[in-house]
Amino acid sequence: MRMYDIIDKKKKGKELSDEEIRYMINGYVDGSIPDYQMSAFLMAVYYMGMSDNELLEMTIAMEKSGDIVDLSAISGIKVDKHSTGGVGDKTTLVVGPVVAACGGKVAKMSGRGLGFTGGTIDKLESIPGYRIDISEREFYDNVNNIGVSIIGQSAEIATADKKLYALRDVTATVDSIPLIASSIMSKKLASGSDKIVLDVTVGSGAFMKSVEDAISLASKMVTIGEGAGKETVAYITNMDIPLGVSVGNNLEVIEAIETLNGNGPDDFNEICIQFSAEMLCLAGKGKIEECKIMAKEAINNGSALKKFSDMVQAQGGNKDYIYDIDMFDKALYSEKWIAEKDCYIEHMDTEICGKTSVILGAGREIKESDVDYTAGIKFYKKTGDFIKKGDVIAELFSSDKDKIKQAISFLKNGYRFGDKQVEKQKTIIAFVSSSGVVFL
Ligand code: URA
Repeated sequence: MRMYDIIDKKKKGKELSDEEIRYMINGYVDGSIPDYQMSAFLMAVYYMGMSDNELLEMTIAMEKSGDIVDLSAISGIKVDKHSTGGVGDKTTLVVGPVVAACGGKVAKMSGRGLGFTGGTIDKLESIPGYRIDISEREFYDNVNNIGVSIIGQSAEIATADKKLYALRDVTATVDSIPLIASSIMSKKLASGSDKIVLDVTVGSGAFMKSVEDAISLASKMVTIGEGAGKETVAYITNMDIPLGVSVGNNLEVIEAIETLNGNGPDDFNEICIQFSAEMLCLAGKGKIEECKIMAKEAINNGSALKKFSDMVQAQGGNKDYIYDIDMFDKALYSEKWIAEKDCYIEHMDTEICGKTSVILGAGREIKESDVDYTAGIKFYKKTGDFIKKGDVIAELFSSDKDKIKQAISFLKNGYRFGDKQVEKQKTIIAFVSSSGVVFL
């Protein structure tokens, strides 16, 4: 078998055999296939796409290229949730405890933030003492005893994806739907959960800019998950507007705690209830509407907040912070952006909102950057809202005064104001499963 022939076949739009795909992925990981040949293959996929069978075989080969997490020491059905990325997305912090409070099991390995999207691990580390590096034994015990544990990724999963992603990044092949689908699903399949709920975001703050592309990505990921024997469903959610009202590590943890207390922003609360219910439903706890009622009840009766506090304590964090949000460090500097005239917000470029939070210090420009846990943005008004002269549009926080000045002028580029009220956008747009697409 020769990589040259595989590239040529893909270039001509012919379907690769399972053996050819395995040969290629294994050869790339062991170094016998060089970057220049893999680059040519990636570009051929970019233009010619992949069949469902090619995609499944490639994803499984990528899954098997690294460690495969074994969660069998945890009893019950483990359901994972994964988002394709967004700004203000602190959903895992709420969904994990809610599902645990309703008797589900969430064994979650999360990542750090890079670029304009934040990472769950950075958010959790803003709680003093919280350890993301507990032992495997502690991780299993915590999920068995509490129902939820969130840790950093320690296993070397999907080695092929790590190498391929770095190559895609420098060959302009990141934005290929089959390559994104195999990248995400290889890691999800290797992460050990039994079932998967995907949140495929769409809009100015997401990889996918159109609903059509988001549905296409979601459908491919659902097909891969089901093909690999794991029930998989996806929601298409709106990332044309930041999720909730807070962006930044401390600020997002506080918003998650407020949501667990029943006082979350409507859009964020809606997503948390829907995803918790879906995870419970997949775990066999009831029909979706029954699970929604259970999830709401877990918030109303305080049991979800208690689960969050139990998880934090079990991982070495100071649980007093969960019951007294004033304990979180405050930024040294803050500045309000004040409206200069009466108008509506017609559009917010969510990627610019995310990049503003990176300028403030909340995210990482490069992997090695330090994070300022106190940095971030509070949005007092969002797309579709009317603002009066003198209203606060947003407030920016940082430990570095100069960064605030730079960030405010950058953020202003991301807004469009006008005198027409635009329609409020839906938060959850569609549901994708093996039965097809349902618009919500
Ligand atoms: N996230 C991933 O893990 N992979 C991609 O290709 C894109 C987003």
